[in-house]
Amino acid sequence: MSAPERAIGIGLLYLLTIGTGIWLSNSGRPLSTLFIMVHKLIALATVVLTSMLFWRLLKYVHTGTVLVGLIVASAVLAIALFATGALLSTGKPMKSLLLTIHQLAPVLLGLSMGATVYLLIR
Ligand code: HEM
Repeated sequence: MSAPERAIGIGLLYLLTIGTGIWLSNSGRPLSTLFIMVHKLIALATVVLTSMLFWRLLKYVHTGTVLVGLIVASAVLAIALFATGALLSTGKPMKSLLLTIHQLAPVLLGLSMGATVYLLIR
């Protein structure tokens, strides 16, 4: 499979992660452990496949400051999503702040991952 095909597959998986997140949020309270697990595993698969793609492509390009900055930003945003996701799963206090971060980070992560892939395969 070529790099652009892999990037499209990962993009679709990322949309599925967001879709299962919205579905989970609207599925009623208390949140189903099974639904959380499904959302978490799809998110994990997306992050692992993205890291593998970045790693492969990084061998062929010169890593400038912008590219490194985008990769670091993507990593920080992914960590923020996993941390807030884990806390939201337990129903801990400060839910609204955690949820705001968990809703905003996917938009920023999509932009930073998209820009990274563009710089890697253009
Ligand atoms: C790339 C990673 C992830 C993305 C893009 C993502 C995205 C989303 C989105 C868009 C929502 C819907 C928010 C809303 O509109 O109400 C959501 C909800 C949720 N996600 Fe994630 N998520 C990710 C990772 C995770 C992980 C790793 C976990 C668990 C460890 C998790 C747990 C949750 C929970 C519990 C909710 C429901 C929050 C609530 O309504 O109380 N997420 N996610």
